[in-house]
Amino acid sequence: MAKALVIYAHPRPDRSEINGPLFETAKAVQGVTPVDLYAEYPDFDIDVDREQQRLVEHDVIVFQHPLYWYSAPAIMKEWQDLVLEHGFAYGKHGTALAGKTFMNAITAGAKPDAYSQAGLNHADLRSLLLPFEATAHLCGMRYLAPFALFGAGRASEGNQLDIHRNAYDDLLKALVADRLDFEKAAAAPFLGDVLDEFLIKTGAM
Ligand SMILES: Cc1cc2nc3c(=O)[nH]c(=O)nc-3n(C[C@H](O)[C@H](O)[C@H](O)COP(=O)(O)O)c2cc1C
Repeated sequence: MAKALVIYAHPRPDRSEINGPLFETAKAVQGVTPVDLYAEYPDFDIDVDREQQRLVEHDVIVFQHPLYWYSAPAIMKEWQDLVLEHGFAYGKHGTALAGKTFMNAITAGAKPDAYSQAGLNHADLRSLLLPFEATAHLCGMRYLAPFALFGAGRASEGNQLDIHRNAYDDLLKALVADRLDFEKAAAAPFLGDVLDEFLIKTGAM
């Protein structure tokens, strides 16, 4: 069994319709350690040693967050700036994260077609998230395609949120059980609610 660290950031959890419930889903998965950055560090006073220790103890690192200005809420940048130190995360002797797996689990207000060269945002999601991918690679981690929910503003009206929560549950369980086809999951534009093609088939008929 692998161990997954789900690092969550939402500056207004009381107003979150999507990420709050998704984080509840993550908390219930065996093998997942949930970390709520804004709850733990309301003053941005990040405990670097503790965060580095958490990273060392886990195999899979998930950043769960709403997409804010094509990136993550501010505390996640602060966390990266302080925790991913030279000599720990990168550099000649900075090999603590080598071989681990990293992914973003994001929710976006815009619809999928907005995330293309021809669309409203003039870029696809993976291009916009390149700083995360480059960071993962510099630290020797394997970067998987982001797990994404688009059109977040409407997701709680129908059953989209429930479908997405189930998919998140499946994804986290597959990561912990080492059942994700990493090659496929690394190459995809994003991971959505249909995960079948990214799961390693077990022998069951
Ligand atoms: C400050 C701010 C920046 C945002 N930037 C983006 C963005 O760059 N792209 C996008 O698709 N949605 C953007 N949104 C919409 C959020 O991603 C959306 O409200 C969120 O994913 C919904 O999740 P929640 O209910 O957990 O807050 C932004 C919202 C806020 C408040």
